[in-house]
Amino acid sequence: MARGAKIYEGKAKILYEGPEPGTIIQYFKDDATAFNAEKKDVIEGKGALNNRFCEHIMTGLNSLGMPTHFIRRINAREQLCHKVEIIPLEVIVRNVSAGSMAKRLGMDEGVQLSRPLVEFSYKDDSLGDPLVAEEHIEVMQWATRSELESMIDMAFRVNDYLSGMMHGIGIKLIDFKIEFGRQYDEQDGMMNLLLADEISPDSCRLWDIETGAKLDKDVFRRDLGNLADAYTEVARRLNILPKGGTASGPQLVK
Ligand code: TMP
Repeated sequence: MARGAKIYEGKAKILYEGPEPGTIIQYFKDDATAFNAEKKDVIEGKGALNNRFCEHIMTGLNSLGMPTHFIRRINAREQLCHKVEIIPLEVIVRNVSAGSMAKRLGMDEGVQLSRPLVEFSYKDDSLGDPLVAEEHIEVMQWATRSELESMIDMAFRVNDYLSGMMHGIGIKLIDFKIEFGRQYDEQDGMMNLLLADEISPDSCRLWDIETGAKLDKDVFRRDLGNLADAYTEVARRLNILPKGGTASGPQLVK
C-alpha cells in the first residue's frame, strides 16, 4: 500500500498520509526514549512488536463498539488508521500507585488504589507534559465538557478491557496512558471522538502477578534489564509474536 507524504514524526512513531482521504499510515519505529528523550536507544524489533500489541488491543476494543482510529495492520511496522485531530491531552488511568503519582504524593509504588483514577497531562514536551485539572482543560478549551466526560468514560472502559486481558496472562495492569482525537463525520456533520495513538508496553505499566517483574518501558527507563525480552514475553503470552520474524526476540542495538 503506497503511503503518502510524512505528516508528523514523534519519538516512537511516524505518521504518513494514507491511501484515501481521511486516512493515515502509522509507522512504528524501533526508537525507545525516556525523560523527554534525554535517554535514547534503538531496540531492533520493538516497532514490529508494538504494531502487533496495538492491532490486538484496538481490534478487541473496536469489536466491543469502542470507536478507535485503528482500521487494520498493513505490514510488520505499519497500520492504516483514521485521520484525527489529536486532543492535546495524555489521559492516564491508574489502578496501583507508581511512577509520577507515587513520587508526587510521596507514596510507595505498588499500593492498590481504592478505585481506578483518571489524570490528565497537557501534551507539551517543552513544559514536560504537566499534570492539569479538568478545569484547566475546559478553560483553555483543549476539550469540551462533553468530550471530557466521553474521554473519562472510554478510559475506564479501556481499563476494564485491558486489565482483564492482562489478568488472563498473569499480568497486573498498574497504569496506562491513552490519547484521543476528533474525526469529522461528513455523513452526519458531527465530530466523533476516537481513541487514537497507541496502546503498547511503551504506554502501560505491566507487572507479572507472581514475581512482580516489570514487563513494560520502565525496564528501559530504570535500566532494569532487557526491554526486548520483556516485550517479547508479553507478546508470547498474548500469542501475538510475529511468526518467523524475530524468533529470538528483538535485539538491543547500541
Ligand atoms: P507516569 O507515572 O510516569 O506519569 O506514567 C503514567 C503512565 O503513562 C505509565 O503507564 C507510562 C505512561 N507514559 C507514557 O505513555 N508516556 C510518557 O511520556 C510518560 C511519562 C508516561
